[in-house]
Amino acid sequence: MNGNTLAKAGRSCLLAVAALAVVAGAGLCAGGGASFLEGIKAHEEKLEKGGPVAVSPVTRPVVTAGEPYQGGTFAVLARKGEIGRYPCSSCHGKGQVQFNNGLQLTHGDVVVNHGREGNSLSCIDCHHPEDRDALEDKKGNRIDFDHSYQLCGQCHFRQKRDWLGGAHGKRVEYWAGERVVYNCTTCHNPHSPRFAPRFPATYAVPLP
Ligand code: HEC
Ligand code: HEC
Ligand code: HEC
Ligand code: HEC
Repeated sequence: MNGNTLAKAGRSCLLAVAALAVVAGAGLCAGGGASFLEGIKAHEEKLEKGGPVAVSPVTRPVVTAGEPYQGGTFAVLARKGEIGRYPCSSCHGKGQVQFNNGLQLTHGDVVVNHGREGNSLSCIDCHHPEDRDALEDKKGNRIDFDHSYQLCGQCHFRQKRDWLGGAHGKRVEYWAGERVVYNCTTCHNPHSPRFAPRFPATYAVPLP
């Protein structure tokens, strides 16, 4: 190799460096010291190790809904653990529970304000007349307390249809992971299901 070819090789190397510097942000041929590109690569590795953060598992007890959702299944928040007087059979064995003023003492707090004015629903429109540990549908079949959306859905079929699709009610946690939704009775008190009117939490003063 003579001096001339060496000089040519040197020039083309310089050109290559100049072109690369524009694309990769300088320092490829510099050698030694962490380059900009290496910095990015190192960062990418860390992100991958951390994994996605969008999934937040639901830790509250759930049941699988008895209805399909987009060809698959979904879960609903369970209720029995939230019902103070469950299991009802701890008092209601067979027949009537007999003691003085018993109904008032045990269920005096249950005020039914549900249905059309002057034609409110009665206890056994919803509760099973013999098996107090269960609800009852209009055909006389038992409904588990965890699946009370089936009870409500008989009359409020539009809200139930919206709830199935996600337009009424609320999903627990984030959009990713398993679909878990609030039960009707997580939000509504079945005995007095209307929400009392209330003032907005954030209030904008009207413009003058
Ligand atoms: C601490 C005891 C006790 C528990 C627990 C209990 N009950 Fe009762 N319940 C009574 C008594 C006492 C009466 C009145 C006598 C009767 O009807 O047997 C009554 C009556 C009822 C009635 C009939 C009310 C009426 O107006 O005729 C319903 C419905 C009822 N209970 C539902 C339930 C349900 C549902 C549960 C569980 C979530 C439950 N009870 C748990 C004691 C209890
Ligand atoms: C519209 C349907 C409906 C009617 C009408 C109704 N209930 Fe209920 N009741 C329910 C459902 C559903 C639950 C379970 C609520 C939940 O998931 O927390 C319940 C819960 C209860 C409980 C347990 C509450 C607790 O927190 O311990 C008692 C007691 C009870 N009902 C008694 C009665 C009595 C007595 C009547 C009549 C005076 C009555 N219910 C009328 C649907 C109804
Ligand atoms: C047997 C039929 C029946 C069942 C079962 C039933 N409801 Fe109702 N519900 C009614 C009727 C009737 C009204 C009054 C509607 C009206 O006035 O237009 C009503 C009213 C309501 C309202 C108030 C609606 C409004 O316009 O303000 C809510 C909320 C509600 N129900 C929720 C529930 C929930 C939650 C359940 C299940 C725990 C349930 N209902 C079960 C018949 C039923
Ligand atoms: C995340 C809480 C939540 C869940 C779950 C929920 N609801 Fe509601 N529901 C509401 C709110 C909030 C309103 C509006 C109340 C108002 O306008 O005063 C409402 C309104 C209603 C009404 C009144 C009519 C209307 O559409 O505004 C009915 C009936 C009703 N819900 C039934 C149901 C039934 C049946 C289910 C279960 C299949 C259910 N809800 C589940 C929060 C909920």
